[in-house]
Amino acid sequence: MSEEVKNLEKEALVGISSAQDLQGLEQQEIFYLGRKGKLNALFPKISTLQATERKEFGEAINFTKQAIESAVASRRQELQMKAFEKLGETEWIDITQPGTKPPEGHVHLVTHTIREVSEIFGRLGFTRVRHPEVDWDWYAFEALNMPADHPARDEWETFFMDTPVDPKKGKMVLTPHTSNGQIHEMEKGKLPIRMINISKCYRRQSDVSHAPMFHQFEGLLIDKNVAVTHLKGVLDYFAREFFGEQRKTRLRPFHFRFTEPSFEVDISCGVCNGTGFLSRSEVGDPPTTYNPQPATSAKCRLCKSGWLELGGAGMVHPNVIKACGIDPNEWNGFAFGWGVERTAMMKSGISIDDIRILYKNDLRFLKQF
Ligand code: FA5
Repeated sequence: MSEEVKNLEKEALVGISSAQDLQGLEQQEIFYLGRKGKLNALFPKISTLQATERKEFGEAINFTKQAIESAVASRRQELQMKAFEKLGETEWIDITQPGTKPPEGHVHLVTHTIREVSEIFGRLGFTRVRHPEVDWDWYAFEALNMPADHPARDEWETFFMDTPVDPKKGKMVLTPHTSNGQIHEMEKGKLPIRMINISKCYRRQSDVSHAPMFHQFEGLLIDKNVAVTHLKGVLDYFAREFFGEQRKTRLRPFHFRFTEPSFEVDISCGVCNGTGFLSRSEVGDPPTTYNPQPATSAKCRLCKSGWLELGGAGMVHPNVIKACGIDPNEWNGFAFGWGVERTAMMKSGISIDDIRILYKNDLRFLKQF
């Protein structure tokens, strides 16, 4: 019987050493060592043997099994080495060939603008913060000098949340502006303050110049003896850094409940240089040596008046400072709040005929910036 086992071992070792590739070796392995392989087929024979022969036969099978296993392992190593040696021929690549560039995206125009705005105000010591975009009525209106039922609230076209009402802070709203950040910042009680809050805002508005979701950046400076001239200086610095050396700002009297005095801030138009009229070169008439930028009677297509409206600003109302637990006789300051989308559009000079295209995910549009 042991002779049969020996013969099987010899036959297996020949088969294994003559396997030419890893696949052929695997077939040999299964043929001899597999569950239904030749070696396992010998086990039932044990029961037909005399008791004295059984041990010897069992040992012979185990010994043969180990011999075949080690033959398979060493042949596998040999064949793997061979396969590696051939790799140079079968998988040759030209490493000098230029690679395939994966498609590359870039940040959205609005994100880019937010980063640039933060950076410019950062240089003036304004810290970038981000206050809630879903907030209590107290922060969005009440503490901003707009008590319940005040008609000034109507302008904000607010989305109210269907949540329990807080006895002190009122309803929850989707913030219609970033001015709630003024209150949060002052409530912290850390003075003086120089913050720039940039967040999403929501209003029940949707037309070519209004998106229901847009962004604002809100500056707040609280210190001692702050004057309108400081506000003007900061706005002028921003205008020059963001829009370019030639641009100027203008403050126009306005009314906000949370600032006194209040202003609308305009910036001189970059297309007509603040004249309101197109230059001769822009209407296709070449400039003369006497006057390189003579104006024409053609109205500027972008501004029509020489100025573009940027947003609101003003000196923080004493009532607002008081509502945040700060003494308005000791501290005062200014605030301003502008739309990020509109500011971005004014910089590039792009005349988008519908602001909502910024959020339509149309790559043909977005790839241009
Ligand atoms: C305000 O929101 C005030 N909170 C600004 C302010 C802050 C005044 C601090 C004083 C002190 P207003 O509603 O005008 O003001 O909005 C400011 C700017 O946000 C607008 O000039 C415009 O650029 C932008 N904006 C307003 N509504 C929309 C909208 N629906 N879509 C896009 N931009 C908008």
